[in-house]
Amino acid sequence: MTFMKVGIDLLHFATSDYFLGLDTFAKEKGTDVNKYFVGIGQEKMSIAPPDEDVVTLSAKATTPILEQIDKNEITAILFATETAVDQSKSAGVFLHGLLGLSKHCRVIELKHACYAGAAGLQMATSMVRANPKEKILVIAADIARYDVDTSGEATQGCGAVAMLITESPRVIEIEPGSGYFTDDVMDFWRPNHRSTALVDGKYSTKVYLNSLKEAWSHFQQQTGKVFEDIDYFCYHIPFTKMAEKAHKTLVKKVGKKFSEEQHDTQTLPSQLYNRIVGNSYSASLFVGFISLLDHVQPSLENKRVSFFSYGSGCVAEFFTGIIQKGYEKVLMTQSHKQQIEQRQELDYPTYLKFYHQTDYSLENLELPKINKGKFRLSAIENYKRIYTANNS
Ligand code: CAA
Repeated sequence: MTFMKVGIDLLHFATSDYFLGLDTFAKEKGTDVNKYFVGIGQEKMSIAPPDEDVVTLSAKATTPILEQIDKNEITAILFATETAVDQSKSAGVFLHGLLGLSKHCRVIELKHACYAGAAGLQMATSMVRANPKEKILVIAADIARYDVDTSGEATQGCGAVAMLITESPRVIEIEPGSGYFTDDVMDFWRPNHRSTALVDGKYSTKVYLNSLKEAWSHFQQQTGKVFEDIDYFCYHIPFTKMAEKAHKTLVKKVGKKFSEEQHDTQTLPSQLYNRIVGNSYSASLFVGFISLLDHVQPSLENKRVSFFSYGSGCVAEFFTGIIQKGYEKVLMTQSHKQQIEQRQELDYPTYLKFYHQTDYSLENLELPKINKGKFRLSAIENYKRIYTANNS
């Protein structure tokens, strides 16, 4: 049986205009900086100013894709986030309005911790397989926030990835068949009244690794593929040391003996952006994939890449894709690198000011203009979010 090729045709990611260095963080906390640089494998974390949220981040991620296609052809937006802006209205509908997409377009928000982006991608591929005319925008966007002075504080960050899912994709074909695993556990959660997540940190890393082993076994049963069939491995990356641990766990499970060099070749390129952006929850697996695409030389053409998505709570999935011929021509590497390089460094007091400045539960609120992106959250009026273009 031959399958139609379906997958990611274009993809682009965005982060905020500001970051906090973990060297600054270590100094403030009186901790050895190597706990962060080496122990958890993070150097910087992108920090969202008060007028940035998942809607403005996703608009920044999507705009360069729309410049290359007829935006009226988009048939659906699947918006994955665990930092939603409203309990009822989908963040994707705010995005749809800002970007002026066709009214003949369906929009829905998806949630399960960091897993929802992968769920959106899999749903979109099924929709396109059922109807090849569909062109679906999958958005994965999150702002990772923990309480100040908790162990999670060093693993914050933010980002959004926009992916256009079509038939005959130019970047990667997502292969049919995947392995998945669900278990009702409390390793990380955010009750409705809280703006920051609660986490049982050490337990969460154990559940992550167990979910990887379970999803991998199921993947093998479902697809018959073996470890050697995969060239590069992308993992959900809350911090890069987690991806390191994940790959070592998988290598051990399949009974391999690996040199450090082989290990680095298979996983390191997918960690480079995440190391300096931080956790972006549902987006972070795909920021890792973009990092792989932007950094591996020579070409990745025809290589098989695996994706392991993990959402605390927990749901996990392992699946693969094949990089398409000529994919380099449609990458937006320059834009990714420029955005990261142009971020402005914050000192610790300014980071705290960003953190504490805003009470989004107020009926009316004016937000200071700090976000330099195309759109910003400018106010809340009668509990309604007001977004404005930055040039208006
Ligand atoms: N030099 C080198 N290494 C050092 C060091 C130093 N000076 N000091 C400490 N380290 C090492 C430690 O040995 C430890 O290594 P191992 O993990 O290999 O044992 C590592 O640095 C971290 O040190 P601690 O365990 O002391 O750190 P911590 O208690 O502050 O907690 C954490 C770390 C659990 C990751 C915490 O940051 C956290 O809770 N983060 C949020 C939760 C999270 O990201 N969980 C990941 C799985 S869940 C998930 O993936 C979903 C999601 O996105 C949240």
